[in-house]
Amino acid sequence: MIKNITVIGAGTMGNGIAHVFAQFGFSVTLVDIAKEPLEKALATIAKNIDRQVAKGIVSADDKQQTLDRITTNTSIEEGVKKADLVVEAATENTELKLKIFKQADAAAPAGCLLATNTSSISVTRIAAVTKRPELVIGMHFMNPVPVMKLVEIINGYSTSEETTQTIISLSKQLDKIPCVVNDYPGFTANRILMPMINEAIYSLYEGVAGVAEIDTVMKLGMAHPMGPLQLADFIGLDVCLNILRVLQEGFGNPKYAPCPLLVNMVTAGKRGVKSGEGFYTYTAGSKELVVSSQFL
Ligand code: CAA
Repeated sequence: MIKNITVIGAGTMGNGIAHVFAQFGFSVTLVDIAKEPLEKALATIAKNIDRQVAKGIVSADDKQQTLDRITTNTSIEEGVKKADLVVEAATENTELKLKIFKQADAAAPAGCLLATNTSSISVTRIAAVTKRPELVIGMHFMNPVPVMKLVEIINGYSTSEETTQTIISLSKQLDKIPCVVNDYPGFTANRILMPMINEAIYSLYEGVAGVAEIDTVMKLGMAHPMGPLQLADFIGLDVCLNILRVLQEGFGNPKYAPCPLLVNMVTAGKRGVKSGEGFYTYTAGSKELVVSSQFL
């Protein structure tokens, strides 16, 4: 029976995951390396619950109860001590994730499941640094976590059927729709999404169409809520580049090679929403989509 969840990493994905578990009654420990990101995460969660209260999804009373279910810790060893499930949502860096899993494996109770929210790093590789590979699984939430219905569940090579069933049932308890897939580069979500985004960037790079035109075609023509270039900015251009490199390396197939324009933009520090500029420029507090002057 899963009751206590420890989420490692308090960034966008980590705070969204902590928010959702707490909203559905689980006791959550949110872990990060310092107090500042933890305080920032709690403030973000409170703000996002306010959006849910405004929409009537949860009541004002639920807000305080949800927040009361979240405690914070700056130590992985301390934070995982009572966990039934650990969900790691740290930066997408293989060495960092391997280190976190070794630490969590050493300190978590026997029987505690270890999940990773990785978007593309091999679950099998992460599981291999632990002494419980059958209890390690991918639990890939989508951004924004409180809004998006999908949880992509990734079975590593050694993941047991019981672990998969527990995570399926848990995802349903969060009012999400689980989809179980196997552990190959990019899994399913990013294996399909990233080549589409890369192709959109190639279309811009080759002068087929402008930023607004590419996004409008996909929004109005395919009913996507965001066009691929806006979505790339939202995900982070550095994240898109990393995932494309995982696909390129993992399959050894040049069709996944990132567009040189994407490489240049990331090298120049244009990482999308989080850096204030990507294909569009972003001003805090404004929802207006302004195409970056580079592309006018
Ligand atoms: N917490 C709670 N609620 C939130 C929220 C958050 N963090 N962010 C947005 N919302 C809610 C809003 O309150 C609003 O609610 P209603 O629909 O009830 O009005 C709703 O979500 C829409 O928000 P906005 O009005 O602010 O903005 P929008 O209509 O433009 O929608 C969006 C925003 C939901 C992000 C929408 O544009 C969308 O679905 N975009 C695509 C997102 C997507 O594809 N995500 C997956 C990215 S890939 C990934 O995450 C995995 C990976 O590995 C890269």
